[in-house]
Parts: sequence; C-alpha cells; structure tokens
Amino acid sequence: MTKIALVTGGNKGIGFETVRQLAAQNIKVLLGARNEQEGKKAEEILQDDSLDVEFIKLDISDSQDIENTKAYIERAYGKLDILVNNAAVFLDGEWFGNNVESVPMKTLRDTFDINYFGTVELTQALLPLIKKSDAGRIVNISSLSGSFGAHLDKNHWLYQLKPFAYSASKTALNQFTVFLANALKETNVKVNAASPGWVKTSIGSDEAPLTPEEGAKTGVALALLDDNGPAGTFSQAGENITW
Ligand SMILES: NC(=O)c1ccc[n+]([C@@H]2O[C@H](COP(=O)([O-])OP(=O)(O)OC[C@H]3O[C@@H](n4cnc5c(N)ncnc54)[C@H](OP(=O)(O)O)[C@@H]3O)[C@@H](O)[C@H]2O)c1
Repeated sequence: MTKIALVTGGNKGIGFETVRQLAAQNIKVLLGARNEQEGKKAEEILQDDSLDVEFIKLDISDSQDIENTKAYIERAYGKLDILVNNAAVFLDGEWFGNNVESVPMKTLRDTFDINYFGTVELTQALLPLIKKSDAGRIVNISSLSGSFGAHLDKNHWLYQLKPFAYSASKTALNQFTVFLANALKETNVKVNAASPGWVKTSIGSDEAPLTPEEGAKTGVALALLDDNGPAGTFSQAGENITW
C-alpha cells in the first residue's frame, strides 16, 4: 500500500528537498505551502521529475487550513504515514548576539504562533490519521538553536548566537517531541526531532556550508525509520545531539 507523507513548508529550502527525497522513495508526498502560487510552482517542478507530489494549501498558523487538510487527507487517503513538521520562521532579524532583553513581544508571539503553536495544533489534528498507519513517523525539524546544551557551552560555535524568539520556539518544539514520543510509546508512531545543520536557505543565509539537499537528509532518515528505530531523540546526520 502506498505510503502517504505530508511536509509543511514544502515550497522551498529544506522542506522542498524533503519532499523530493521522500517522493524519490516512491512515497506519495503532500507538499504543504501557505502560498498557493509558490506551492503549485514547487509541485510542478517535482511532478516534471515524475515524482508523485501533490500541493496542499496549508498555513500552519491557520486553524481552518489545518481542519481542511485533515478532512482532505481523511477523505482521499484515510491515513497518514509520515508528517514532517518543517515550516518555521526566523523573525529575530539578527543571528549574532543575545536579544532577550529587547525582543518585541510581537516577534516572540508571531514566532511561537508558527514554529510552536501551529506545529502542535497541526500534529494534534492529524494524530488520529497517523495512528491509522502501520508505522507512523513524526519528524519535527528543530534546530541546534533550541539546545540548552549548546547555549550553555562557552566553547560551542553556537554560543554567540542567541536569537531568543527563534531559539525558545525550537526549545519548546523539542519539549513537544519528548512529550509526544512518551505519550505514543505503546503505539506504532515514532516521534523524533531533527537538526538539519546550518543550511543555505532564507533562514540559514548564503553563508551556510550545507546545501538544502544535505540539510534534508537528517529529517528524511527519521521519516523512514524502520520498526527498530528510536523515538524521542534529537539528532543531526545520524548522531544524537545534546538537548
Ligand atoms: N537553514 C538552516 O540553517 C536551519 C538550521 C536549523 C533548522 N532549520 C529549520 O529548517 C526548517 C526549514 O527552514 P529552511 O532553512 O528551509 O528555511 P526557508 O527556506 O525559509 O523555509 C521555511 C519554510 O517554512 C514555510 N513557512 C513559514 N511559515 C509558515 C506557515 N505559517 N505555514 C506554512 N508554511 C510556513 C515557508 O513558507 P514561505 O515561502 O511562504 O515563507 C518556507 O516554505 C525550519 O524549521 C527551520 O527552523 C533551518
């Protein structure tokens, strides 16, 4: 039976490459995007490569879009095997420095609305469909920025980079990963968090060393875990990293 996956923020960057790599495994991939034009453009590029990709309009901070997505997947496929929570924003402006004393509340709220609340709301809504899969996989695309370990370690390269809104939203996402993995431990559903590394995208900038294709690999591997695979982990390129 064909596996069905949904990738949020699939129109560009790591999300787009995640859609491509999952579809290349003969998985039917729903490419979620908040902008219809951008989503359809991405769908067309991948379909031209003979990949089984279907655009779905999904702004993860819009409850109506979430309801529509759930209803559509239920009607069309009756289950969901893989959910990659990739969509996110970086609204702090600067990567360098520590803006915790001055970051506007609006920046914090807008960041959390998408990176955290939107992700949690979508996941909760789709869980009944994911539980219908023989081997459900939920991958939260997190970031090393969410790691307490990295932020407490003076010798870590990330130590000087403390954009508070983005980092805190990813720490909260990590907590969601741990709690959800625990809640689902007796089921067929595995939940893990991925750190893609520093990747050349709108969020990562042109300075980043990794390509989106390389950045997508950690999340894709977690989406394809077999029954013996782990749950409740935070990893990058196959190595567990500090929470
Ligand atoms: N690049 C890095 O170095 C790096 C490092 C660590 C973690 N990450 C994580 O990797 C993931 C992908 O980011 P990226 O680097 O590929 O950045 P990106 O190119 O900016 O992609 C972000 C994607 O999220 C989408 N998005 C934002 N808000 C959304 C919403 N409300 N609903 C639906 N989609 C929404 C964007 O859509 P629009 O095109 O409409 O804006 C875009 O498709 C994110 O979770 C990010 O935090 C990236």
